[in-house]
Amino acid sequence: VIVRHRFGEYEVVCSDAAIALGDEREAFVITDENVMSHWRSLCGRWPVRAVKAGEGSKSIDTYNECLEWLAGNRASRSCTIFAIGGGVVGDLAGFVAATYMRGVRVIQVPTTLLAMVDSSVGGKVGIDLKTGKNLAGAFHPPSRVIIDLQTLSTLPRREFNNGAAEIWKYGAILDPLILEQLEANPLGPGDDRLPAMVMHCVDLKRQIVESDEYERSGTRAVLNFGHTLAHAIERQTGYGPVLHGEAVAIGMVVEAAIGEKLGMSPMGAATRLDKGLESQGLPTRIPTCAPGELLEAMRLDKKASQGRLAFALLQGYGSCKLVADVPESVVLECVREYL
Ligand SMILES: NC(=O)c1ccc[n+]([C@@H]2O[C@H](COP(=O)([O-])OP(=O)(O)OC[C@H]3O[C@@H](n4cnc5c(N)ncnc54)[C@H](O)[C@@H]3O)[C@@H](O)[C@H]2O)c1
Ligand SMILES: [Zn+2]
Repeated sequence: VIVRHRFGEYEVVCSDAAIALGDEREAFVITDENVMSHWRSLCGRWPVRAVKAGEGSKSIDTYNECLEWLAGNRASRSCTIFAIGGGVVGDLAGFVAATYMRGVRVIQVPTTLLAMVDSSVGGKVGIDLKTGKNLAGAFHPPSRVIIDLQTLSTLPRREFNNGAAEIWKYGAILDPLILEQLEANPLGPGDDRLPAMVMHCVDLKRQIVESDEYERSGTRAVLNFGHTLAHAIERQTGYGPVLHGEAVAIGMVVEAAIGEKLGMSPMGAATRLDKGLESQGLPTRIPTCAPGELLEAMRLDKKASQGRLAFALLQGYGSCKLVADVPESVVLECVREYL
């Protein structure tokens, strides 16, 4: 898949990462300790910085350490950074690459299903601030994305399902055929359909980001289906107990119910997604959070404006639209229904 952007284009390929990483002149690897323990061999002869695994590494401190590490190793302006890991490493290393000496090349090597179908494509990179997630960042397209499906062999099942949630999302908002395929058989590691499905999702994301690279027109916001509530759940539960994809699974079901109440989404959409996502081993009920606090958190969503709640809602299977100004009473009613 070739992704075009403002300054050029990059390709997303499925390939053996160990081979693909060999032919750079000067490169540095940023990864995390888990990935390093399984996939040290991918890093080849390049210097490696393995940060602690987990969202905590998308911090100013870790970002600073990576920059100092590059500078200390005399990395030049023409070096390449390899980001080998999940979305945390991709976002962190991508932001390091975006800013080191005003920008060096980054090659994304996603090793989680979520990073393969979502975070490694689109050029958004960044870190978290104490105040909130992803508050500092940049648009820095990779110069290549290398998907090595072999790496999924060591990914814990819960993390696999976490990424599968985003594939269900692509099915719901962009391609009902994916939805039907997943309903017939939920996705598993080693699934024959995985290579084709991953590349298909990459291509779907490509279409969206190419038409709204800087998230301005609202087109890119359709990728936020399930995410208004998901972000609120993640925030209220303190980022950790509920994984992002799990929160998105819950969010999709409840936001489908909201769409139904507004007469916008197909009747039965919430039940349909509920059943499917559950078969994928994903949660579909809101964990104990106070509804009022969830509502408060949703007002902080970047799509909300002037305190009015905004959601990307299903218009039909394979079609989604950003709706600003969804009545709070409807949201509250649906939240209560799925507690
Ligand atoms: N930039 C974007 O467009 C975008 C989009 C979606 C999500 N994100 C970001 O992505 C992050 C979440 O990404 P994630 O779900 O990949 O989490 P992650 O990077 O934390 O990876 C999940 C866990 O799996 C481990 N792991 C990774 N690859 C492995 C492998 N092959 N074998 C064994 N263990 C492995 C990691 O060490 C970690 O413990 C969030 O910070 C989110 O904000 C960014
Ligand atoms: Zn997501």
